[in-house]
Amino acid sequence: MSWINRLLGRKPKPAQGVQSGPVFSVAPLTATGRDDAKAKKAGSAAMFPRFQSTAGDQLSPRITDRFAATRIKLRSAFTPSQPITDRRMFAGRTDVLTTLIRSLEDQRVHVIMYGERGIGKTSLVHVLTQAAQDARYIVVYCSCGAGSNFEEIFRAVAADIPLLFHSGFAPTAEQAERGGSLADLLPAGPLSPRTVADLFAKLTGTRVLVVLDEFDVCENPEFRRNIAELIKNLSDRSIRTQLVIAGVAADLTELVEHIPSIRRNIFALQVPKMTAAEISHLVENGEEISGVAFDRSALDFIVFVANGSPYLASLLSHHSGLAALDKARTKVSVEDVSLAVDQALAEFRGRISKHAQAQIDQAAKSGVRHVLGVMAGAALFNNGRFDGRDVDALYPSAATAANFKNTVQELADKGVLLEAHDDDYGKGYKFSEESVLPYLWILAAQKRFLESRKPTPAPEKAAPEKPVAEKTPDKASEKAGAKDEPVAAPVRAAARQG
Ligand SMILES: Nc1ncnc2c1ncn2[C@@H]1O[C@H](COP(=O)(O)OP(=O)(O)O)[C@@H](O)[C@H]1O
Ligand SMILES: [Mg+2]
Repeated sequence: MSWINRLLGRKPKPAQGVQSGPVFSVAPLTATGRDDAKAKKAGSAAMFPRFQSTAGDQLSPRITDRFAATRIKLRSAFTPSQPITDRRMFAGRTDVLTTLIRSLEDQRVHVIMYGERGIGKTSLVHVLTQAAQDARYIVVYCSCGAGSNFEEIFRAVAADIPLLFHSGFAPTAEQAERGGSLADLLPAGPLSPRTVADLFAKLTGTRVLVVLDEFDVCENPEFRRNIAELIKNLSDRSIRTQLVIAGVAADLTELVEHIPSIRRNIFALQVPKMTAAEISHLVENGEEISGVAFDRSALDFIVFVANGSPYLASLLSHHSGLAALDKARTKVSVEDVSLAVDQALAEFRGRISKHAQAQIDQAAKSGVRHVLGVMAGAALFNNGRFDGRDVDALYPSAATAANFKNTVQELADKGVLLEAHDDDYGKGYKFSEESVLPYLWILAAQKRFLESRKPTPAPEKAAPEKPVAEKTPDKASEKAGAKDEPVAAPVRAAARQG
């Protein structure tokens, strides 16, 4: 063994096809031996996983997959982990955009957009930004972080506003011509909302939109207080700067609580879930960009499971498109979507705590998982909350609804997956972990969609339908359960959300 190998504790590998002989014997490298080794090296190099396109989105010349170019297009057509920045890919939401523009332009109020993760706030903000820039607004976009502070953000905002828009500087003033910004005029040391408002009060010839995205991420209460104070200052003095804040629901009330009087200077919009037509439009946009088509039932499946979420629609379209290309097809079928759903389920399950995973598996055994899934679908865009009315909408018979309500209460009493909440809307339930919601919903939706596609047996031979609650009830209630099966339940639950 060479000293290097000894030092590293490595055993020299015997050359392939050669009897391992004395340690120092070297396999004779004949011409063919060399060729073999070369061929082997080339073979294993070809097998080794590699990126299919370069960082500049060029196809790697080594790739022989005839769909490689389509894959690249598909990846940019459906970007579940990135917000939309290109207007051509932005689906639906025309009413929402019009409302936002009108509030900014006609009412001159500040805008707060709130809604669940993945509902499309950041994408909306990007498209709104482009519309404002088209109207020559100066738009400064900031994505808030856990430690965001007022001073840092507003120094950066001021640095993006050219001095030539300050009423104290003629456009020909030397400092303005040299490309100075409002940040040059800010005093050293801490910045108060008052100082920022005083500076912005001098703006002329333009309007500024300051976008604070991911507002919920910032944990600093002082930052929020300062923002509320700034809104008050800007509004009281009709200053040509407006804020657009995007985040999750809870923050809105928290922001307004600081200074109730700013309520009338704010337009708060809950970003709604997308309609089925808007989700179809999202998929169709992607079809156009990628050249991958979705057949009618594949599209229906995506729309059904997405339940109004552009994130879910984008994720499923992305995965199912790739699944079709893997099978050398450019037409996506229901089977591809089903694979995509399985893939999404695996991803979502990984985000759930082991404890809750075990509880979900237990719920499946006791037969309540499916109905909990339908409730999760109703709760997805309702702040994670559902209540007795959702259960009533699911079951046509009052007796079965009452039965399920008892089960829900039992689960909440034991702290299994659910917690009971008494709030402004009355008695309701929330899932104890946020990540449980999409998982349970997707499981239920997949089951429901695939079952609805099964051919209905001829009436005379019809077997009793499986009760939705997957329970193993006694004979009498089994019959009742079968009669109670809410065929279009998730659709109804989804429709009520719309
Ligand atoms: N109007 C839309 N059209 C097409 N895709 C959208 C639209 N809105 C959101 N998406 C997609 O949904 C996902 C989540 O959107 P995002 O704007 O990041 O949501 P949020 O900021 O609310 O978490 C992204 O993948 C984005 O591509
Ligand atoms: Mg966002």
